Amino acid sequence: MNTSVNIQNTQSLSYRLKHETASEHERMHQLMAKADVFSSQEQYGKFTLSQYYFQKEIENLFDKEGIAELIPDLGIRGRSDKALQDLSDLNIQPQGQSLQTEHIKLPEALGWIYVSEGSTLGAAFLFKEAQKKLGLSESYAARNLAAYPEGRAKVWKRFVEALDDSGFDPKLQNRVVQGALDAFEYFGQALIQLKELK
Ligand code: HEM
Repeated sequence: MNTSVNIQNTQSLSYRLKHETASEHERMHQLMAKADVFSSQEQYGKFTLSQYYFQKEIENLFDKEGIAELIPDLGIRGRSDKALQDLSDLNIQPQGQSLQTEHIKLPEALGWIYVSEGSTLGAAFLFKEAQKKLGLSESYAARNLAAYPEGRAKVWKRFVEALDDSGFDPKLQNRVVQGALDAFEYFGQALIQLKELK
């Protein structure tokens, strides 16, 4: 076995993000189960509002210095437009929220974007639930959960490559991981306070 390859693998940014935020991902599962977002159209509407506001935070980061150089296909990413169309299907008009990511820059911004992009993988499961339990689809109210036209896995693989090509040293990587933990915290709070979202 080539141990040097192995060591490098365990230190890649994507590896660190996956493993050092695993408990937060697990917490999201629990919060999602508790929020029971497919129990009614009203509850799903609240969840879609949370997705919309989260995507607005993420897309704000796309414009930050250095991000477009690291992630060349930013144009296909981000789902706030889709979430907004979904909200319109559900007759919900978001009242707006002040941005919490205003002062976030690289490298933390990359961690936030990681959480958003990773969540497109879990959305495969959520999309099926939205179809099955509420009769929604990629053209009605569940656009934000549908796969990217190229397919979830392909777009995710390209994002992971971008993470690992960033060339960040361990200290910069620590800050990306912190950004991801902050993004999970943000989304977790949104799930906890789902009922208050407007
Ligand atoms: C019930 C809800 C959810 C389910 C069932 C779910 C499921 C999944 C699945 C199956 C994967 C792929 C795992 C793998 O390939 O190893 C994944 C990845 C991921 N999910 Fe979720 N997820 C859920 C909620 C969320 C939420 C709410 C977020 C964040 C806001 C999130 C963030 C992520 C991230 C960042 C990854 C990438 C992990 C990696 O680095 O490979 N997930 N999820």
